[in-house]
Amino acid sequence: MRLVIQEKKNDVAEYAAGYVMNKIKEHEEKNTGTLFLMGLPTGSTPEGMYKKLIELHQDPANEFSFKNVVTFNMDEYVFPSGTTPCAKNPNSYHYYMWNAFFQHIDILPENVHILDGDVADMDELAKECEKYERIIKGYKKKIDIFIGGIGPDGHVAFNEPGSSLKSRTRVKTLNYETMLANTKHMAAVEWDPEAEDPISKVLNAKNRGPRYSHNNGDTSERKVVPDKGFFVPTKRGNAPSVPRTALTVGVGTVMDAHEVMILVTGQPKALALSKCIEEGVSHQWTVSMVQLHEKALVVCDKPATSEMRVKTVDYYQNLYSLHMQAVEGAFESGYESEVAQEVTPAESSKAKGVMPPPAKKKAPKQVEADNTGKLLGAVGLGFALGLGAMFICKK
Ligand code: PGA
Repeated sequence: MRLVIQEKKNDVAEYAAGYVMNKIKEHEEKNTGTLFLMGLPTGSTPEGMYKKLIELHQDPANEFSFKNVVTFNMDEYVFPSGTTPCAKNPNSYHYYMWNAFFQHIDILPENVHILDGDVADMDELAKECEKYERIIKGYKKKIDIFIGGIGPDGHVAFNEPGSSLKSRTRVKTLNYETMLANTKHMAAVEWDPEAEDPISKVLNAKNRGPRYSHNNGDTSERKVVPDKGFFVPTKRGNAPSVPRTALTVGVGTVMDAHEVMILVTGQPKALALSKCIEEGVSHQWTVSMVQLHEKALVVCDKPATSEMRVKTVDYYQNLYSLHMQAVEGAFESGYESEVAQEVTPAESSKAKGVMPPPAKKKAPKQVEADNTGKLLGAVGLGFALGLGAMFICKK
């Protein structure tokens, strides 16, 4: 597992966005005829990455498209009260994703998959989860990269402490801490029978065609809830009802991906990060399962390292610096060592001519400084030897 420590939250966002873009471009260049599959998180941690990805996508110099990208979101709430208004609620992850990301990029709506909490009862919810797993399998390849955030209790997606580390997509009860943490994202809402669908509104405003599709393909099992209206934010400021239940991919679903990238920012996540990095795999800190993944990358900011030992932080920072020198060196010389392949060309700006993760700029400077020193030393030595030779000859 790799740990990349960046200075600030924004640096984590830049690094992650650059990494994802390079992965998608690499996939396109390989021209395998397959789609690029991504698992995506919601929450405050990935917001910056989505913003940056939009910027990179909208910069024509990058020639960066999502047309061949398929996404699977990690989770969705099952909202209390009323019928089952998950995708009709501005607090839903459907709304978050369309509002913050999908409406700004050229992804095809049918390639977007988000679990659907809009079903009537527990049986339907369970079926929805099974269907989600079937849809992932239906692509007949691994998810290329699953990106996740973590909770202060070390959860990944809504796999709360005590979740099976082999779990698949299922209905989960949220723990009290998670519900409390979620309140900060929740606007107070009330049911309005006349209200417009908030997600279609976002799409229509951008002229993005049909309403998002719920897990395209097999829709026969989906029960249409024959109600009208949507939950809308209210100005009255009454306490929002925080969902107690959610649908979530399992730890096993995330770990099946070809690569897993976990983003961790802020001091409140510091204990969870230290458990994940410095202690063993435990169902009490479900994110620690990344230790058993063949290709896991954790990107964090400095505040998130505050519970780790100084020695651990130093170790990973030094390793990263050496790693970047190796990657840059390998690509500069045109020599693709095993290390360079292992550590992925996605990190080399020189290889792809695209935005580098911020911290890596330091590595080449270091190399240049070292080489300059050596060069000056060699010139100095040559000069001294020359003088010595002249002196001997004169004698
Ligand atoms: P946050 O949530 O990014 O809003 O902190 C992450 C999570 O709970 O997985």
